Amino acid sequence: MAARPRRPTHVRPRLRRHRRLFLLIPLLLLFLLPPLSAVIFRRANSLGRRCLSVTAPHTPLAGRRLSFSIVTLSDESRGARGRSFRGMLNATARNRRAYAAVHGYGLAVLPPEAVDRSRPPAWSKVLALRAHLHRHHWLFWNDADTLVTNPDIALETILVSVIGHSDFHTSPDLILTEDINGVNSGLFFIRRSKWSERFLDIWWNHTSFVQFGSTKSGDNFALKHIIDHLSPEEMQAHVRIAKMQCLFNSYPWNWMAMWKSLHALIFHPSTTWKGVYSDGDFMVHFAGLDDKRGWTSRILKEIGTT
Ligand SMILES: *[C@@H]1O[C@H](CO)[C@@H](O)[C@H](O)[C@H]1NC(C)=O
Ligand SMILES: *[C@@H]1O[C@H](CO)[C@@H](O)[C@H](O)[C@H]1NC(C)=O
Repeated sequence: MAARPRRPTHVRPRLRRHRRLFLLIPLLLLFLLPPLSAVIFRRANSLGRRCLSVTAPHTPLAGRRLSFSIVTLSDESRGARGRSFRGMLNATARNRRAYAAVHGYGLAVLPPEAVDRSRPPAWSKVLALRAHLHRHHWLFWNDADTLVTNPDIALETILVSVIGHSDFHTSPDLILTEDINGVNSGLFFIRRSKWSERFLDIWWNHTSFVQFGSTKSGDNFALKHIIDHLSPEEMQAHVRIAKMQCLFNSYPWNWMAMWKSLHALIFHPSTTWKGVYSDGDFMVHFAGLDDKRGWTSRILKEIGTT
């Protein structure tokens, strides 16, 4: 049996030094990765990311125009701690109005009186959509913390990109995007139909999901719960989830040096890539961000309007 070779003594200090270097790697990642990824993410579209399917036509077929309305609502008087929507409706009004006017869409901004006080304000989107559903072919729900960043893109183009055709009568009813937490209720399309009416009623009836006193109001959890419990047949017939979140719901927080961004980047790189806000995207959504007014000013300045 061979004697075990003695470990040369000079190795120990070097090992210790290496171990110290290893400890430095997560720290380096924490400080270098976010700014590095921010630079790359801002250019995601010029680096080859495709949010719109390439086959989507950019103008709707003449004579087959469908009626669209953007619906939004905001409770200016209340807001979760540090994540206030105060002033957001005013800050984004001109942007939304200009977009709707250029394309000939309706724009329904629900007044604060339309907010149901028995629940957090976010829930009132369900009532607002229910009330407007019969007036248009399609409604496009907009949380108040969103902006149109590429007004050249028409809602018809977005829908064709997801659905694959523009026949209203054979379209699914609910068009959503997905982030790392699942479907998101901040921006979505709903079609005028019996199914949609029932869907909104069921959503509103999920009262056990209502939450007070945090940044979550429960409406998004309820939506996710309903979607998760649809049969595959019903899902196939009525719901579409866009392959690319950046089609109409891009998030800018992934640029920031936050633990959350790093976590998303490491554990959900593909979802992050599909959803991060990049120059040329249709809409930006300040989901999960505190300084919504500040972000609004910054993005409006970047895209050259105020
Ligand atoms: C929003 O704008 C309207 C009219 O311009 C103004 O009367 C109102 O006070 C503004 N609200 C907030 C919260 O800034
Ligand atoms: C929602 O709840 C109301 C009141 O309980 C009920 O009348 C209605 O049928 C429910 N709707 C659906 C679609 O479940």
